[in-house]
Amino acid sequence: MNAPHLQIYPTAQAAGIALAAELRALVARQPDVVIGFPTGGTPRQLYAELARLAREDKVDWSQVRGFNLDEYWPLASEHPASFRSFMLHNLIEPAGFDADLLRIPSGEVATEEIDAHIAAYQASIREAGGIYLQLLGIGLNGHIGFNEPGSPATSRARLVELAEVTRNRARAQFGEDEVPSHGITLGIADILDAERVTVMAFGAEKAQAVCAALEGAIDSSCPASLLRRHPNVTWMLDTEAAQELGMFN
Ligand code: F6R
Repeated sequence: MNAPHLQIYPTAQAAGIALAAELRALVARQPDVVIGFPTGGTPRQLYAELARLAREDKVDWSQVRGFNLDEYWPLASEHPASFRSFMLHNLIEPAGFDADLLRIPSGEVATEEIDAHIAAYQASIREAGGIYLQLLGIGLNGHIGFNEPGSPATSRARLVELAEVTRNRARAQFGEDEVPSHGITLGIADILDAERVTVMAFGAEKAQAVCAALEGAIDSSCPASLLRRHPNVTWMLDTEAAQELGMFN
């Protein structure tokens, strides 16, 4: 197995600033680099810092090509809780990414079109030359993307049923509306295909999942543990998310 790189920061903001600086250097070398993007609370400070760099230092992100990990299904793209809306408001508009170059699975496709939609999404990743850097958050249950516990290491992009803990956590974003029962997600094998992976986890609520991923068994009960099969993974944690790791106890 491969030892992951572990970086521990005092706060999520400090981690966001460090990762944004890394992305800035990456884009300076290769403006059209292919990045895999997550949504949710975890990357917010990173995306805010990418926007600040665009505003204050005139960093140009407009050639970056990107593929989002996942989207709720069924869900209208314009729904305020869709991952498309999240990307528009948190990254594309404030940081000046080109919306046409950042692809997101669609929550709007009809049941009979899902397979073709997913095949086309995977084909565009291949045509782009694959994902160079896959950014990830981790769920309370150790999920990555919408690969819930039980997802095999060989899983590919597909429609999945969301775990109850995932739907409960999403409730606040949906207000009066039902949280969708399903999601379209890249699979674990797709994530492992990326050249490099960076996982972010912040806050005490993630400490158990982080510990299971880094120190527990490598199996599908904690999908993030399967990242230990990848040769180049960096974990960026804050002190709270790192607090259950053996090395600190
Ligand atoms: C989101 C995604 C999920 C989240 C995870 C953590 O695109 O793929 O796996 O990264 O659920 O969510 P937050 O960051 O909201 O705690």
